[in-house]
This record gives sequence, structure tokens and C-alpha cells, in this order.
Amino acid sequence: MALVTLAEVLNDAYRNGYAVAGFNFYTYEDASAIVRGAEELDSPVILMASGKAIKHLGVDYAASTVKVLAERASVPVVAHLDHATDLKTIFQAIKHGFTSVMYDGSMLGIDENIKNTKLVVSVARALGVSVEAEIGRVGMSEEGEDIGEILTDPDSASEFYDSTGVDALAVAIGSAHGMQKQEASLDLDLAREIHESVDVPLVLHGSSGVRDEDLRQIARYGFAKINIGTKLKHVFAQGIRDLCNSSTYVPDPLKIVVNASQEISHVVKEKIALLRE
Ligand code: G3H
Ligand code: ZN
Repeated sequence: MALVTLAEVLNDAYRNGYAVAGFNFYTYEDASAIVRGAEELDSPVILMASGKAIKHLGVDYAASTVKVLAERASVPVVAHLDHATDLKTIFQAIKHGFTSVMYDGSMLGIDENIKNTKLVVSVARALGVSVEAEIGRVGMSEEGEDIGEILTDPDSASEFYDSTGVDALAVAIGSAHGMQKQEASLDLDLAREIHESVDVPLVLHGSSGVRDEDLRQIARYGFAKINIGTKLKHVFAQGIRDLCNSSTYVPDPLKIVVNASQEISHVVKEKIALLRE
């Protein structure tokens, strides 16, 4: 299958009250394990490259990795650039074949966020690429520093969407990036209010820290894209640790990463199944 856009997979989810999972990847191994998990459930999947992945792989190789995996896959795959704060990276990503980009202007005032997002939308739309943007601010940045959470105001969300016409809107309702345990306390009333104010697929960031029952609930409140990163990092690292701690010495990096990535596929399947219940 070829790559698809974010809008293509989210529109069906949004209209039918389920969510599609977006997973962060950093290497070929975790990316392919994510796609394998999605294939086993016959589900579309969003592969997301954030700043660290782009720094490690390069924007060209990150795009090629997803493109090759999508061509071999039996399910639709979205190549999504996650949390880009600069326009240059966005335009490079589009040039190299990402089918979806997130412009993250959440650190800016609403006027500048709108201005930059509009520019991204005008370029991306002309080239058939989807755009996600953020209004309000999810606690903790992708790099782990405290950036101060700002819960999303439903009226601002509505103004932002009317002004930009993005394909997906990330909002802050109490989750935070990088949580080790599923203990976030989401404001579900706010989630519903935003959903009632804005007719666009919503995105939840920091979903590793959100309880399963809350994830299920917000999928019904228009959150059609659920971003999961930290959970997979832990599973991958734990898999490597377990193998290295076992009594048999495994002098084979390929065996080590392939073994560790199997656990990623399991978690991917669990999350996908949960979000489409
Ligand atoms: O953009 C990526 C996500 O928001 C991932 O958040 O690492 O806390 O699951 P997480
Ligand atoms: Zn995020």
C-alpha cells in the first residue's frame, strides 16, 4: 500500500467515534514493529517522527523509512512529522514525502500561532499534505522540560480552527508528555466542550500517561488521533535489558533489537484494539 494522509484516516475515525493511534518511532526496528502490530489488527496507523527522530535519522531517511514500510504494508500508513516548531523543518518534511505535518506553535501567542499555521496550511494543502496544529499547551515538552500546561479554551479552539482550517487540532485537557504511569487526570468535561465547539478531529498528546478508560471515552468526544511515545520507549528498552540480563550471552545486535521490538508490536495491538472498541 502507498502512504496515505492524516486527513484520509482521521475523517472516518472522527465520523464514527473511534480513534487512530499515532506512535513515535526512532529507528527502523521500532517503526517496523509498529506497522506489524497494526497489520495484525488490520488497522491504519500513524508513524510519527518527532525532533529527536529527525535529528537521529535525518528528515530524508525518516521519510524513506516510513515510505518503504508503507509500500510493504497491508494497511494504510501515515508519515507524520511530530511537533515541528520551525517552518524550515516542515517544508523539508513535505519535500521528502511526509504526508502529514504538525506545526507546533503552542509556545507562541494565538495570533502568531494562527499566522504561522495558516502559512503551513496553504503550502501543505497545495501539495496534498495534512496539517495538525496545537492550541493551548500540553504539559512537558517532547524533550522533557516543563513548559507549563495551558488548558485549551474552547472559544480559542474555535477561533483557531476557523482561522486556519487545519485537518486535526491538538488540544490540552490535562495530559502531559513523558509520563511513566497512566495517572494523568483529564478534564473530560473540557474535552466534551471543545468537541461541541469545534467540528474537527481532535488530537491527544501525552497519551502514555492516560488511563485506558479515559482514552476510550475521549475517542467518543472527537479525539480521533491518540499520540503514544513514551510507553513504546520503555517497552523497547525493557526488552533489550531483559535479553542482555539473561544467562545466555547474545552477541548479535540484530537478535537483540528484533526481540525487543516484538514487545512493541504487542503494545501497539493493545492500544489499537482499545481505541476502536
Ligand atoms: O507527540 C507525541 C506524543 O504526544 C507522545 O506522548 O510520549 O507522553 O506518550 P507520550
Ligand atoms: Zn506530543
